[in-house]
Amino acid sequence: MTTTIGSTTQPGVAHAIGVYEGRETSTDQDLFDGLGLSQLALLDASGFTGKISQVVAVPDGDKLLYLVGLGEELDREQLRQAAGWLARSVGRIEEVTTSLHSVGLDGAVQAVIEGFLLGQYEFTEYHASDVAGTASLLLVGDVDDADIERAGSLAMAVTWARDLVNRPPRDKSPQAIVEAFQSLAEGLPIDVTVWDVADLERERCGGLLGVNAGSTAPARMLMAEYSPEGATQTLAVVGKGIVFDSGGLNLKSFEFMKTMKSDMAGAAATMAGLVAIARAQILTRVLVYVPLTENMPGGAANRPGDVLTARNGKTMEVLNTDAEGRLVLADGLSLAAEGNPDLIVDIATLTGASHVALGHKYAGLWSSSDAAGSLVEAAAARAGERVWRMPLPLDYRKAIDSDVADMKNTGERYGGAIHAALFLKEFAGDGPWVHLDIAGPAWGYDKAGYQSVGGTGFGVSTLVEVAGLMEGS
Ligand code: BES
Ligand code: MN
Ligand code: ZN
Repeated sequence: MTTTIGSTTQPGVAHAIGVYEGRETSTDQDLFDGLGLSQLALLDASGFTGKISQVVAVPDGDKLLYLVGLGEELDREQLRQAAGWLARSVGRIEEVTTSLHSVGLDGAVQAVIEGFLLGQYEFTEYHASDVAGTASLLLVGDVDDADIERAGSLAMAVTWARDLVNRPPRDKSPQAIVEAFQSLAEGLPIDVTVWDVADLERERCGGLLGVNAGSTAPARMLMAEYSPEGATQTLAVVGKGIVFDSGGLNLKSFEFMKTMKSDMAGAAATMAGLVAIARAQILTRVLVYVPLTENMPGGAANRPGDVLTARNGKTMEVLNTDAEGRLVLADGLSLAAEGNPDLIVDIATLTGASHVALGHKYAGLWSSSDAAGSLVEAAAARAGERVWRMPLPLDYRKAIDSDVADMKNTGERYGGAIHAALFLKEFAGDGPWVHLDIAGPAWGYDKAGYQSVGGTGFGVSTLVEVAGLMEGS
């Protein structure tokens, strides 16, 4: 779907208004009060009460009026969801005007645009026939072009991340991902450096090379830098880029393998986030590190018992080849820490244990610093993405003690997400570091509001907000 966003002075033929729960107040009170008996009867029959997720179209002469539920207590995230539900309801209607943003809420215009654009998301690249259409959303009133621009840019970045996650694994080799990023970043003030296998050997990235050994597609380390003039703070982001996780020799079963093309969702969010930050010209320096490889069981693959040496010199015993994310992140985090940034955030579909603990919608958050943890929590809240703080108890470190190396890559089953976080901590240096485990929210299981099935683009928005909060600190 190609959607254009703009503004207009008048409601058009298809117009969407917001209605609060209880059906007494609306964003277009005149239009709403003017509804006739038959239209109200239609609303009653449909069960429309004004809850979020409800959208009903009522005929109004030769026009169509969409009533969009806004719930009782509206915040930016709810408004984004409401706009997403509207996008799902308008189907093939080519032009919709709306007053949904007239709710007296900070950031309302952006929330409506983001929700609408993301609610229309469909992954159509692999359909034989061209199923994509065109649509436009016009906001009624005096709307700031800069808001339209910024919301459009964020939605575009999230869409790019969703597309990359949804792309079949054969079509997103490490090199293909590098190229996709290079074309996305073209024309922006972003410097890209890519290490191939020879570079990785010279640079001692033993974790990434070890995981890559079982695959025929050569690994890459993608690094990119955005350094706007006047920035005083540096954010480093490390994204897990396993383009397909078969488990390696510790092969996954069908049930767990079927969505593993999504194991590069952290990488996608990192790359898309950087581009959105640069487009918004946020005054924070941002460095990203993205280790990219498949995890496959080829003849040269890691064997349980093998020992790898990460970039920072620490050794890792590979007891389970399916705990590969922490091995590649070890190199990414080591590189990030070398630059002594003000904050390191890593984002990774790291453990099934985090998914089990928090379900589909929450990311787990671990941090070595309370202040840094709180900053990322605040950023996620602004972004409408749900994160939950988890503990980092140092006495649990003994679960990853190894008999032959500095650590082993699996702890015990109970607390698996915590052991993984403690493993990463060994590579994050001494500065503030926040780890986001997005194993749950990276993948969507139902269409609802602006959420899609498949890749969700989770994290893009939070990273943009983190850079924004650091700008002012
Ligand atoms: N990519 C998986 C984690 C995952 C699971 C992501 C479900 C998204 C949804 C990761 O590489 C993995 O396999 N982790 C293992 C670790 C274990 C072997 C210590 C896991 O969680 O089972
Ligand atoms: Mn794995
Ligand atoms: Zn994985």
